[in-house]
Amino acid sequence: MQWGDEGKGRVVDSLAGEYDIVARFGGGDNAGHTLVVGDRKLALRIVPSGVLQPRTELFIGGGTVVSLEGVVAEFDKLAEIGVDLSRIRISDRAHVVLPFHPALDRANEAERGARALGTTGRGIGPAYTDKTVRSGITFGDLLRGAYEERLRARMRGLAGEGMPDLDAVLASIAHYLPRIAGHIVDGVGYIHGALENGRRVLIEGAQGTLLDVGYGTYPFVTSSHTIAGGACIGLGIGPTAIGAVVGVAKAYCTRVGAGPFPSELEDATGVRLRARGAEFGTVTGRPRRCGWFDAVAARYASRLNGLTSAVVTKLDVLSGFERLAIVTGYRVDGASVGFESAADPRLELELEWFEGWPDDLTGCRRIAGLPAPAARYVTALEASLGVPVQSVSVGPERSALATR
Ligand code: GDP
Ligand code: IMO
Ligand code: MG
Repeated sequence: MQWGDEGKGRVVDSLAGEYDIVARFGGGDNAGHTLVVGDRKLALRIVPSGVLQPRTELFIGGGTVVSLEGVVAEFDKLAEIGVDLSRIRISDRAHVVLPFHPALDRANEAERGARALGTTGRGIGPAYTDKTVRSGITFGDLLRGAYEERLRARMRGLAGEGMPDLDAVLASIAHYLPRIAGHIVDGVGYIHGALENGRRVLIEGAQGTLLDVGYGTYPFVTSSHTIAGGACIGLGIGPTAIGAVVGVAKAYCTRVGAGPFPSELEDATGVRLRARGAEFGTVTGRPRRCGWFDAVAARYASRLNGLTSAVVTKLDVLSGFERLAIVTGYRVDGASVGFESAADPRLELELEWFEGWPDDLTGCRRIAGLPAPAARYVTALEASLGVPVQSVSVGPERSALATR
C-alpha cells in the first residue's frame, strides 16, 4: 500500500499455509521479503514467500524479470536450509535479467546525476525496457535455445564500465541454465490448470503501489505494475479469477530511494522511527526514509487496488512515542488536493495527532486486546484504507500477529 517494505513477505508467509500455490507476478530481485520463523531469518528476492510452508508450490510468474545468477544463488541458499526445490516453478514467459542489465542500470543512474532514482541497481529497468521494445529473452527462449541471434543484435554496440561482452553473457547462460531448466514450465498452462482443479492460489505483490510505473510517483518508481491489477497481467489470468485483495500497510511510512514522500520526517522523530523499526534496505542496506502514516496516500492506494481487507504491520515499532501523527489532508494554496499533488513544492500537510502508548505490543494476539490508544490509532488507519483490518503485526516473527 506504500513504497515497498511494508512486510508483505511476512504476511504472505502467515497466510500461505491455507494455499496450494504462492505466486509472484512482477518485479525481480529488487524485492527483499523477510521471513522470521523462530530464530531463522530469511530474506527472499524472487522466490515467493510461501517457501517456509512445507508443501506450498512456488510460482515465479510471467510478469517477473529474473536474474539467472540471482535465482541460482537463492536456490542454493534455500537448498542449504533443506527446502525441496522441486516445489519451485518459473514461467516460460518471465524475462531474463541478463548480465549487462545491471551495468546499464548503473550507467543510467550515473547519467541522471542529481535526478537519479536511487534504483536497487539490479537491472530491473533495463530488463523491462528490453521486454517492451521486444529485444528481451524469455525463459522459454532459453529452454528452446532460441535466443542467440536476438542477444547478438541486442548487444551490438553495448559498451561501458563493467559491461560484459557477448561471450561472457553466453558463458553465463551456459553455466546457470542447467541448474534452472527443470524448473521452467508453460506458465499459462500451469496456473490455469491449478485454477481449473480448484487449487488455491495466493498471489504475492512486490514493491508497492506508490512505486507502480503507471500510478506511482513517476518517474521515481520501479518499472513494473505493482498494483493488484498487475497480478492479472503478470500471471495471465482474468480479473474474474481474483477472489479477494489484501492490502499490506505499515503503521507508518518508509521509502528507500529518491522521490516524493510528503509525510517524511527529516528530524529526530524520523531517526527514531528508523532505529525502532530497523529500517534499512533488505537488498541494498540503505537507510530507509521514515515518516508518519499518510492517509491521503492510503486512500489513493486502496482505490487503485480494489481492496477487500487490509493488514497493518509493525505497530509495535510505535510503542513509546508520546504522540503520533497521521497525515489526513494535502493542501496547495489553501485548497484541498489529493495524492496526485504529492510532488507539488507548495504542498502543505494537515496532521491529526494521536495519543501514544508506552506498552510493549509484541505479545498481543487479539486486536481487541490492544491498549486503547493503539486501538484508536488502528481504527484511524482502517478508516483511511476503507476496508476492515483483518490482522495487525506486532513483531517480525511469524507468530507476532494480532487477529480479530
Ligand atoms: P516486504 O518487502 O514488504 O516483504 O518487507 P521487508 O521484509 O523488506 O521489510 C519489512 C521488515 O520489517 C523486515 O525486516 C521484517 O522482518 C520486519 N517486520 C515485519 N513485520 C514486522 C512487525 O510487525 N514488527 C517489527 N518490528 N518488524 C517487522
Ligand atoms: P519490496 O518488494 C522498496 C525502489 C528502489 C528505487 C525504485 C526503483 O521489498 O517491497 P528499481 O531497482 O526497481 O528500478 O528501483 O524502486 N524499490 C523498492 N523499494 N522495496 C522494494 O521491494 C523495492 N523495489 C524497488 O529503491 O527507489
Ligand atoms: Mg522489502
